[in-house]
Amino acid sequence: MMDPGRTMDPFIELDGVEKVFDVRRKTGFLKRERHRVRAVDSISFSVARGEMVGYIGPNGAGKSTTIKMLTGILTPSGGRLRVAGIDPSRERTRLAHRIGVVFGQRTTLWWDLPLIDSYRLVHRMYRIPAARYRENLDRMVELLDLGELLDVPVRQLSLGQRMRGDIAAALLHDPEVLYLDEPTIGLDVISKTRVREFLRGLNAERATTVLLTTHDLQDIEQLCSRVMVIDHGRLVYDGALAGLHEAGESERILVVDLERELPPIAAPSPARVVRVEGPRQWLAFPASASAAGLVARIAAEYPLVDLSVREPDIEAVIAKMYAERRAGRPVA
Ligand SMILES: Nc1ncnc2c1ncn2[C@@H]1O[C@H](COP(=O)(O)OP(=O)(O)O)[C@@H](O)[C@H]1O
Ligand SMILES: [Mg+2]
Repeated sequence: MMDPGRTMDPFIELDGVEKVFDVRRKTGFLKRERHRVRAVDSISFSVARGEMVGYIGPNGAGKSTTIKMLTGILTPSGGRLRVAGIDPSRERTRLAHRIGVVFGQRTTLWWDLPLIDSYRLVHRMYRIPAARYRENLDRMVELLDLGELLDVPVRQLSLGQRMRGDIAAALLHDPEVLYLDEPTIGLDVISKTRVREFLRGLNAERATTVLLTTHDLQDIEQLCSRVMVIDHGRLVYDGALAGLHEAGESERILVVDLERELPPIAAPSPARVVRVEGPRQWLAFPASASAAGLVARIAAEYPLVDLSVREPDIEAVIAKMYAERRAGRPVA
Protein backbone atom coordinates (compact mmCIF):
# COMPACT_ATOMS: atom_id res chain seq x y z
CA MET A 1 0.00 0.00 0.00
CA MET A 2 1.22 3.46 -0.76
CA ASP A 3 1.67 6.03 1.96
CA PRO A 4 -0.95 8.74 2.10
CA GLY A 5 0.28 11.82 0.32
CA ARG A 6 2.24 9.75 -2.14
CA THR A 7 0.78 9.64 -5.59
CA MET A 8 2.16 8.43 -8.84
CA ASP A 9 1.50 11.61 -10.79
CA PRO A 10 4.80 13.33 -11.49
CA PHE A 11 5.61 16.24 -9.25
CA ILE A 12 8.76 17.20 -11.13
CA GLU A 13 8.73 16.82 -14.90
CA LEU A 14 11.48 17.52 -17.39
CA ASP A 15 11.07 16.92 -21.08
CA GLY A 16 14.07 17.51 -23.32
CA VAL A 17 15.36 20.30 -21.07
CA GLU A 18 18.47 22.12 -22.24
CA LYS A 19 20.68 24.85 -20.91
CA VAL A 20 23.31 26.46 -23.11
CA PHE A 21 25.71 29.08 -21.76
CA ASP A 22 27.44 31.53 -24.05
CA VAL A 23 30.89 32.15 -22.69
CA ARG A 24 33.67 34.41 -23.91
CA ARG A 25 37.10 33.01 -23.50
CA LYS A 26 40.26 35.06 -23.68
CA THR A 27 42.42 33.51 -26.38
CA GLY A 28 45.12 36.16 -26.66
CA PHE A 29 45.88 39.81 -26.13
CA LEU A 30 42.55 41.61 -26.71
CA LYS A 31 41.25 38.51 -28.43
CA ARG A 32 38.20 36.75 -27.18
CA GLU A 33 36.48 33.75 -28.58
CA ARG A 34 32.83 33.00 -28.05
CA HIS A 35 31.85 29.50 -27.42
CA ARG A 36 28.86 27.63 -26.13
CA VAL A 37 28.70 25.31 -23.20
CA ARG A 38 25.91 22.79 -23.32
CA ALA A 39 25.56 22.39 -19.54
CA VAL A 40 22.33 20.42 -19.74
CA ASP A 41 21.68 18.55 -22.93
CA SER A 42 18.15 17.34 -23.54
CA ILE A 43 17.31 15.83 -20.18
CA SER A 44 13.99 14.10 -19.51
CA PHE A 45 12.85 12.57 -16.25
CA SER A 46 10.00 12.75 -13.80
CA VAL A 47 9.86 12.43 -10.05
CA ALA A 48 6.71 11.42 -8.19
CA ARG A 49 5.55 13.08 -5.01
CA GLY A 50 7.32 11.61 -1.98
CA GLU A 51 10.25 10.15 -3.89
CA MET A 52 13.80 10.63 -2.68
CA VAL A 53 16.11 10.64 -5.67
CA GLY A 54 19.87 10.92 -5.96
CA TYR A 55 21.27 13.08 -8.75
CA ILE A 56 24.93 12.34 -9.23
CA GLY A 57 27.73 12.88 -11.67
CA PRO A 58 31.27 14.23 -11.94
CA ASN A 59 32.22 17.87 -11.58
CA GLY A 60 30.79 20.07 -14.30
CA ALA A 61 28.23 17.44 -15.33
CA GLY A 62 25.30 19.87 -15.08
CA LYS A 63 23.83 19.01 -11.68
CA SER A 64 23.74 22.52 -10.21
CA THR A 65 22.47 23.93 -13.49
CA THR A 66 19.56 21.46 -13.33
CA ILE A 67 18.76 22.47 -9.74
CA LYS A 68 18.88 26.16 -10.68
CA MET A 69 16.39 25.57 -13.50
CA LEU A 70 14.13 23.63 -11.11
CA THR A 71 14.04 26.60 -8.73
CA GLY A 72 13.59 29.16 -11.51
CA ILE A 73 16.95 30.87 -10.93
CA LEU A 74 17.92 29.90 -14.49
CA THR A 75 15.66 29.72 -17.53
CA PRO A 76 16.06 26.64 -19.76
CA SER A 77 17.30 27.25 -23.30
CA GLY A 78 14.91 24.59 -24.53
CA GLY A 79 12.52 21.86 -23.55
CA ARG A 80 9.71 21.77 -21.02
CA LEU A 81 9.99 21.86 -17.26
CA ARG A 82 7.27 21.75 -14.60
CA VAL A 83 7.34 21.56 -10.82
CA ALA A 84 3.96 21.09 -9.16
CA GLY A 85 2.47 22.08 -12.50
CA ILE A 86 4.33 25.41 -12.42
CA ASP A 87 6.88 26.67 -14.93
CA PRO A 88 9.64 27.67 -12.47
CA SER A 89 11.29 30.51 -14.38
CA ARG A 90 7.93 32.13 -15.21
CA GLU A 91 6.41 31.91 -11.77
CA ARG A 92 9.40 31.79 -9.53
CA THR A 93 7.76 33.58 -6.60
CA ARG A 94 4.66 31.42 -6.61
CA LEU A 95 6.80 28.31 -6.79
CA ALA A 96 9.09 29.51 -3.99
CA HIS A 97 6.32 28.85 -1.48
CA ARG A 98 6.26 25.19 -2.42
CA ILE A 99 9.96 24.39 -2.69
CA GLY A 100 12.98 24.51 -0.42
CA VAL A 101 16.55 24.61 -1.61
CA VAL A 102 19.93 24.17 0.05
CA PHE A 103 23.19 24.90 -1.73
CA GLY A 104 26.03 23.29 0.17
CA GLN A 105 28.57 25.69 -1.25
CA ARG A 106 26.87 28.89 -0.16
CA THR A 107 24.57 29.82 2.67
CA THR A 108 21.20 31.51 2.45
CA LEU A 109 21.58 32.63 6.07
CA TRP A 110 22.53 36.17 7.06
CA TRP A 111 26.21 35.94 7.82
CA ASP A 112 26.46 38.58 10.54
CA LEU A 113 23.19 37.87 12.33
CA PRO A 114 22.36 35.27 14.95
CA LEU A 115 20.79 32.19 13.38
CA ILE A 116 17.36 32.95 14.87
CA ASP A 117 17.24 36.30 13.04
CA SER A 118 17.54 34.54 9.69
CA TYR A 119 14.58 32.37 10.67
CA ARG A 120 12.52 35.44 11.66
CA LEU A 121 13.27 36.94 8.26
CA VAL A 122 12.20 33.72 6.54
CA HIS A 123 9.05 33.77 8.66
CA ARG A 124 8.15 37.24 7.37
CA MET A 125 9.32 36.70 3.81
CA TYR A 126 7.14 33.63 3.34
CA ARG A 127 4.31 34.98 5.51
CA ILE A 128 4.23 31.76 7.51
CA PRO A 129 1.32 31.75 10.00
CA ALA A 130 2.72 32.33 13.51
CA ALA A 131 1.57 29.04 15.01
CA ARG A 132 2.96 27.01 12.15
CA TYR A 133 6.25 28.87 12.22
CA ARG A 134 6.59 28.14 15.95
CA GLU A 135 5.76 24.51 15.50
CA ASN A 136 8.16 24.04 12.58
CA LEU A 137 10.94 25.94 14.30
CA ASP A 138 10.58 23.84 17.45
CA ARG A 139 10.66 20.67 15.41
CA MET A 140 13.77 21.74 13.47
CA VAL A 141 15.55 22.86 16.62
CA GLU A 142 14.92 19.48 18.15
CA LEU A 143 15.66 17.28 15.14
CA LEU A 144 18.69 19.23 13.96
CA ASP A 145 19.92 20.02 17.46
CA LEU A 146 20.00 23.78 16.94
CA GLY A 147 19.01 24.89 20.46
CA GLU A 148 22.45 26.12 21.48
CA LEU A 149 23.09 27.76 18.14
CA LEU A 150 20.10 30.06 17.72
CA ASP A 151 21.81 33.07 19.25
CA VAL A 152 25.16 32.50 17.56
CA PRO A 153 26.05 34.66 14.54
CA VAL A 154 26.17 32.48 11.45
CA ARG A 155 29.79 33.42 10.75
CA GLN A 156 30.79 31.69 13.98
CA LEU A 157 29.14 28.37 13.15
CA SER A 158 31.12 25.34 12.00
CA LEU A 159 30.37 24.05 8.51
CA GLY A 160 28.23 21.21 9.89
CA GLN A 161 26.28 23.54 12.19
CA ARG A 162 25.76 26.02 9.37
CA MET A 163 24.49 23.27 7.07
CA ARG A 164 21.95 22.16 9.67
CA GLY A 165 20.95 25.80 10.04
CA ASP A 166 20.51 26.11 6.28
CA ILE A 167 18.40 22.96 6.05
CA ALA A 168 16.09 24.25 8.78
CA ALA A 169 15.75 27.61 6.98
CA ALA A 170 14.76 25.81 3.78
CA LEU A 171 12.00 23.87 5.55
CA LEU A 172 10.30 26.44 7.81
CA HIS A 173 7.63 27.14 5.20
CA ASP A 174 6.73 23.44 4.76
CA PRO A 175 7.85 23.00 1.16
CA GLU A 176 6.59 19.96 -0.72
CA VAL A 177 9.94 19.41 -2.36
CA LEU A 178 13.45 19.93 -1.11
CA TYR A 179 16.40 20.30 -3.46
CA LEU A 180 19.77 19.71 -1.89
CA ASP A 181 22.88 20.59 -3.86
CA GLU A 182 25.87 18.91 -2.23
CA PRO A 183 24.52 19.19 1.33
CA THR A 184 27.25 17.04 2.87
CA ILE A 185 30.22 18.62 1.10
CA GLY A 186 33.03 19.28 3.56
CA LEU A 187 31.13 17.85 6.53
CA ASP A 188 32.70 15.56 9.11
CA VAL A 189 31.32 12.05 9.53
CA ILE A 190 29.13 12.89 12.53
CA SER A 191 27.51 15.87 10.80
CA LYS A 192 26.95 13.80 7.67
CA THR A 193 25.24 11.08 9.67
CA ARG A 194 23.03 13.60 11.42
CA VAL A 195 22.01 15.28 8.15
CA ARG A 196 21.26 11.91 6.55
CA GLU A 197 19.15 10.77 9.50
CA PHE A 198 17.21 13.99 9.38
CA LEU A 199 16.54 13.70 5.64
CA ARG A 200 15.43 10.10 5.97
CA GLY A 201 12.95 11.11 8.68
CA LEU A 202 11.68 14.09 6.68
CA ASN A 203 11.00 11.93 3.65
CA ALA A 204 9.40 9.12 5.66
CA GLU A 205 7.23 11.20 7.97
CA ARG A 206 6.24 14.14 5.79
CA ALA A 207 6.51 12.51 2.36
CA THR A 208 8.60 15.48 1.28
CA THR A 209 9.95 14.92 -2.21
CA VAL A 210 13.74 15.14 -2.12
CA LEU A 211 16.19 15.63 -4.97
CA LEU A 212 19.69 15.15 -3.68
CA THR A 213 22.78 16.15 -5.59
CA THR A 214 25.97 14.81 -4.15
CA HIS A 215 29.52 13.73 -4.66
CA ASP A 216 29.29 11.42 -1.72
CA LEU A 217 28.01 8.07 -2.88
CA GLN A 218 27.34 7.02 0.69
CA ASP A 219 24.63 9.70 0.78
CA ILE A 220 22.94 7.88 -2.07
CA GLU A 221 23.52 4.41 -0.67
CA GLN A 222 21.97 5.37 2.62
CA LEU A 223 19.11 7.51 1.38
CA CYS A 224 17.99 6.91 -2.17
CA SER A 225 16.48 3.86 -3.81
CA ARG A 226 16.51 5.64 -7.14
CA VAL A 227 19.51 7.32 -8.65
CA MET A 228 20.03 9.38 -11.78
CA VAL A 229 23.49 9.76 -13.21
CA ILE A 230 24.35 12.77 -15.33
CA ASP A 231 27.49 13.15 -17.40
CA HIS A 232 28.29 16.00 -19.77
CA GLY A 233 24.76 17.31 -19.43
CA ARG A 234 23.15 14.00 -20.40
CA LEU A 235 21.26 11.53 -18.30
CA VAL A 236 23.19 8.28 -18.60
CA TYR A 237 21.38 6.23 -15.98
CA ASP A 238 18.03 6.39 -14.20
CA GLY A 239 17.02 3.50 -12.00
CA ALA A 240 17.65 1.52 -8.87
CA LEU A 241 20.97 1.73 -7.13
CA ALA A 242 21.32 -2.03 -7.47
CA GLY A 243 20.89 -1.74 -11.23
CA LEU A 244 23.74 0.71 -11.35
CA HIS A 245 26.04 -2.07 -10.26
CA GLU A 246 24.80 -4.24 -13.08
CA ALA A 247 25.11 -1.43 -15.60
CA GLY A 248 28.71 -1.06 -14.54
CA GLU A 249 29.07 -4.87 -14.39
CA SER A 250 30.56 -4.47 -10.97
CA GLU A 251 32.07 -7.24 -8.95
CA ARG A 252 32.24 -8.13 -5.31
CA ILE A 253 35.37 -9.42 -3.72
CA LEU A 254 35.50 -12.50 -1.51
CA VAL A 255 38.53 -12.37 0.76
CA VAL A 256 39.50 -15.78 2.16
CA ASP A 257 42.11 -16.68 4.73
CA LEU A 258 43.44 -20.22 4.33
CA GLU A 259 45.38 -22.20 6.89
CA ARG A 260 48.54 -21.84 4.86
CA GLU A 261 49.95 -20.43 1.67
CA LEU A 262 48.49 -22.31 -1.29
CA PRO A 263 48.37 -21.94 -5.08
CA PRO A 264 45.44 -19.80 -6.36
CA ILE A 265 42.07 -21.38 -5.59
CA ALA A 266 40.49 -23.08 -8.60
CA ALA A 267 37.19 -21.18 -8.46
CA PRO A 268 34.19 -21.90 -10.70
CA SER A 269 33.99 -19.33 -13.54
CA PRO A 270 33.29 -16.38 -13.66
CA ALA A 271 34.75 -16.14 -10.14
CA ARG A 272 38.52 -15.95 -10.19
CA VAL A 273 41.44 -15.21 -7.95
CA VAL A 274 42.67 -11.65 -8.46
CA ARG A 275 45.30 -11.46 -5.75
CA VAL A 276 47.27 -13.74 -3.45
CA GLU A 277 49.24 -12.65 -0.39
CA GLY A 278 50.56 -15.50 1.73
CA PRO A 279 47.58 -17.49 3.06
CA ARG A 280 45.13 -14.75 2.00
CA GLN A 281 43.42 -14.79 -1.40
CA TRP A 282 41.04 -12.35 -3.10
CA LEU A 283 38.38 -13.67 -5.49
CA ALA A 284 36.28 -11.42 -7.73
CA PHE A 285 32.74 -12.51 -8.63
CA PRO A 286 29.73 -10.69 -10.19
CA ALA A 287 28.00 -8.37 -7.73
CA SER A 288 24.64 -9.70 -8.84
CA ALA A 289 25.56 -13.29 -7.89
CA SER A 290 25.22 -14.82 -4.43
CA ALA A 291 28.41 -15.54 -2.53
CA ALA A 292 26.93 -18.61 -0.84
CA GLY A 293 27.71 -21.19 -3.54
CA LEU A 294 31.24 -19.94 -3.96
CA VAL A 295 31.88 -19.98 -0.22
CA ALA A 296 30.45 -23.52 0.14
CA ARG A 297 32.65 -24.78 -2.67
CA ILE A 298 35.82 -23.26 -1.25
CA ALA A 299 35.00 -24.43 2.27
CA ALA A 300 34.56 -28.00 1.00
CA GLU A 301 37.85 -28.12 -0.86
CA TYR A 302 40.23 -25.81 1.01
CA PRO A 303 41.37 -25.36 4.61
CA LEU A 304 39.34 -22.22 5.24
CA VAL A 305 40.01 -20.15 8.38
CA ASP A 306 38.10 -16.95 7.78
CA LEU A 307 36.36 -14.95 5.06
CA SER A 308 34.72 -11.63 4.28
CA VAL A 309 32.88 -10.10 1.32
CA ARG A 310 33.61 -6.60 0.09
CA GLU A 311 30.88 -4.67 -1.63
CA PRO A 312 31.73 -2.98 -4.92
CA ASP A 313 32.76 0.61 -4.77
CA ILE A 314 30.09 2.63 -6.58
CA GLU A 315 32.61 5.24 -7.49
CA ALA A 316 34.48 2.59 -9.48
CA VAL A 317 31.21 1.37 -11.00
CA ILE A 318 30.34 4.85 -12.22
CA ALA A 319 33.83 5.50 -13.53
CA LYS A 320 33.56 2.27 -15.50
CA MET A 321 30.15 3.28 -16.79
CA TYR A 322 31.46 6.62 -18.01
CA ALA A 323 34.38 4.92 -19.71
CA GLU A 324 32.05 2.49 -21.48
CA ARG A 325 29.77 5.31 -22.54
CA ARG A 326 32.67 7.20 -24.07
CA ALA A 327 33.66 4.06 -25.89
CA GLY A 328 30.20 4.17 -27.46
CA ARG A 329 28.58 1.32 -25.62
CA PRO A 330 25.09 1.83 -24.21
CA VAL A 331 24.73 1.34 -20.45
CA ALA A 332 21.07 1.74 -19.61
N1 LIG B 1 26.76 30.79 -15.38
C1 LIG B 1 27.51 30.01 -16.16
N2 LIG B 1 28.14 30.50 -17.24
C2 LIG B 1 28.87 29.72 -18.04
N3 LIG B 1 29.05 28.40 -17.86
C3 LIG B 1 28.47 27.84 -16.78
C4 LIG B 1 27.66 28.60 -15.89
N4 LIG B 1 27.21 27.77 -14.91
C5 LIG B 1 27.70 26.55 -15.19
N5 LIG B 1 28.45 26.58 -16.31
C6 LIG B 1 29.12 25.43 -16.95
O1 LIG B 1 28.14 24.43 -17.16
C7 LIG B 1 28.66 23.14 -16.89
C8 LIG B 1 27.85 22.47 -15.79
O2 LIG B 1 28.06 23.15 -14.56
P1 LIG B 1 27.32 22.74 -13.22
O3 LIG B 1 25.88 22.60 -13.49
O4 LIG B 1 27.73 23.70 -12.17
O5 LIG B 1 27.95 21.30 -12.93
P2 LIG B 1 27.94 20.42 -11.60
O6 LIG B 1 27.02 21.06 -10.60
O7 LIG B 1 27.47 19.07 -12.05
O8 LIG B 1 29.34 20.36 -11.12
C9 LIG B 1 30.13 23.35 -16.54
O9 LIG B 1 30.89 23.19 -17.71
C10 LIG B 1 30.16 24.79 -16.07
O10 LIG B 1 31.43 25.36 -16.27
MG1 LIG C 1 27.43 21.72 -8.67
